[in-house]
Amino acid sequence: MARKLIAGNWKMNLLRPEGTALARDLALRLARTVDPAFDLLVCPPATIIAPIADAVQGSGLLVGGQDCHSAQEGAHTGDVSARMLADLGCSHVIVGHSERRQDHGEIDLMVAEKAAAAQAEGLVAIICIGETEAERNDGRALQVCSRQIAGSLPQGATAENTVIAYEPVWAIGTGRTPTTADVAEVHAHIRAALGARVPSEAAGIRILYGGSVKPGNAAELLAVPNVDGALVGGASLKADDFWAIAEASAG
Ligand code: PGA
Repeated sequence: MARKLIAGNWKMNLLRPEGTALARDLALRLARTVDPAFDLLVCPPATIIAPIADAVQGSGLLVGGQDCHSAQEGAHTGDVSARMLADLGCSHVIVGHSERRQDHGEIDLMVAEKAAAAQAEGLVAIICIGETEAERNDGRALQVCSRQIAGSLPQGATAENTVIAYEPVWAIGTGRTPTTADVAEVHAHIRAALGARVPSEAAGIRILYGGSVKPGNAAELLAVPNVDGALVGGASLKADDFWAIAEASAG
C-alpha cells in the first residue's frame, strides 16, 4: 500500500501572507524529514494557489485545488478549470466536497465530470463522499456511500489518478467523529464498492477519512484498516496541528 496521504482543505480561509507562511512552514518541516512516511498536500483557496505553489516548489509539499469546472476553458464566469490548476503546479484537486454538494447543488454526475476533467489534465481527483446525519440515523450510510461511489467515479479511474475521501457530513467541523468500528465498516464497504467498479485498481486507490480529524484522534483513525490518509479541514490551518496529524500517520 502507498504511503498515507495527509491532505489539508483550507476551505475559504487565509489571505496571502498567512497562507504563504503556513505553506512555507510545512515545506520546511517536510524538507527536514528524512524519508517521510506520508505524502503531504495543502489545498488553499484558488486566490493564493499561485504564490504558495511558487513558495514551496521543490520541497515535496504537494499543492491542490478545492474544486474545478468540468470544462477546461470557455464561457464560465468565475470558475476555475483543472487545466488552470495544473498550470499553477497543482497535483491534486478535491471534487464533490459536501459543502460543494450543499452550497452549489453538485450531484454525483457533475462530480464525476469534474473528476474526469481533473484526470484528463494529469491531476489526482480527490472524490468526496459521505452520508448526512439523517441518512446515518436511518441506517443508510453504507448505501449512500456505494451510490455516491457508483455515480461520482469517472470512467478511467485508477489508483494513480483517484483518491476517495469518506467524510460523514455530520462529522465535518463539528468535533464529532464516528467510532473506529464505524470508520472500519464504511471504508471496507467503499473498498468493496471500488472492487465492483474498477476491480484491478480497487486495492491501490487511497481512501481518506475526513471530518474533525485532530492531533488527538489522528493516530487511532489512521490506524483503522483501509484508512489510507486523512482530509483535514480546521486542523490544517495550524502548522503544528497539521504536522502532528501527519506524524501520527507514521504509526
Ligand atoms: P474538518 O473538515 O476537519 O474541519 O471537520 C474536514 C473537511 O471538510 O474536509
